[in-house]
Amino acid sequence: MNGDMAHIDVPRSEKFDDVYFSVVDGLSETRHVFLNGNGLPEAWQGRGGVTICETGFGTGLNFLATLKLWLDSPVAERPKKLHFISFEKYPLTREYIAKHLAVWNDLSDILGVFLSKYPIDLNVSKVDLDICDGVVLTLCFGDVNVLMPTIHESVDFWFLDGFKPSSNPDMWSDNVFQNMARLSQIDARIATFTAAGFVRRGLVAAGFEIQKVRGFGRKREMVIGRYVGGDDAR
Ligand SMILES: C[S@@+](CC[C@H](N)C(=O)[O-])C[C@H]1O[C@@H](n2cnc3c(N)ncnc32)[C@H](O)[C@@H]1O
Repeated sequence: MNGDMAHIDVPRSEKFDDVYFSVVDGLSETRHVFLNGNGLPEAWQGRGGVTICETGFGTGLNFLATLKLWLDSPVAERPKKLHFISFEKYPLTREYIAKHLAVWNDLSDILGVFLSKYPIDLNVSKVDLDICDGVVLTLCFGDVNVLMPTIHESVDFWFLDGFKPSSNPDMWSDNVFQNMARLSQIDARIATFTAAGFVRRGLVAAGFEIQKVRGFGRKREMVIGRYVGGDDAR
């Protein structure tokens, strides 16, 4: 079975009354929303190194899809260095992740490598994992509102992936948007599955130019955009 989601138990959070990824096909959703939404892989061509920052790590599906894209890209057409930073307040166990991502044969090799490095002690607040030559995954375990202000990186691409804004508003706070602006270079790109009004307004207020585009599957709309800066930067 490869990507056939009909037979798997899609991970779900009772606390937030939402799924971690699409029940239709999580991997296709990731590729549509976060990779294509950020213009990848074309947008990382010709760069020496890129930093991607994600707001909710969950199962790591978005990270693995990004890693797969990087590994499958010709060396001349991908950045030498890929740094992927992600936040997670409620880390999942290795066993839980293994069980829920096993459906994608495409990812099985890199899933094994990732799981062999995934920390057993989920109480650490920040860990840098050397996934392979050229790729570092930084996991920040805790509240994104507390930990994003401690980051000092220049971010090129944002994957905004909390649970739905109505049940998980902390992931979509003005504090998060202001910190995204602080860490973004002009033209840093963003993509998210939601087109909720308060998310769009918060992003615009923080200096992002956004547009609504077709969402994945039955979702009519999602949002992509780029950082254009505040009044001072224009
Ligand atoms: C939709 S899921 C992310 C799915 C994930 N990107 C994947 O590939 O599986 C949202 C994630 O945000 C996490 N989360 C919720 N509130 C948070 C907060 N305040 N700070 C950090 N992480 C949070 C949840 O535990 C969950 O793992």
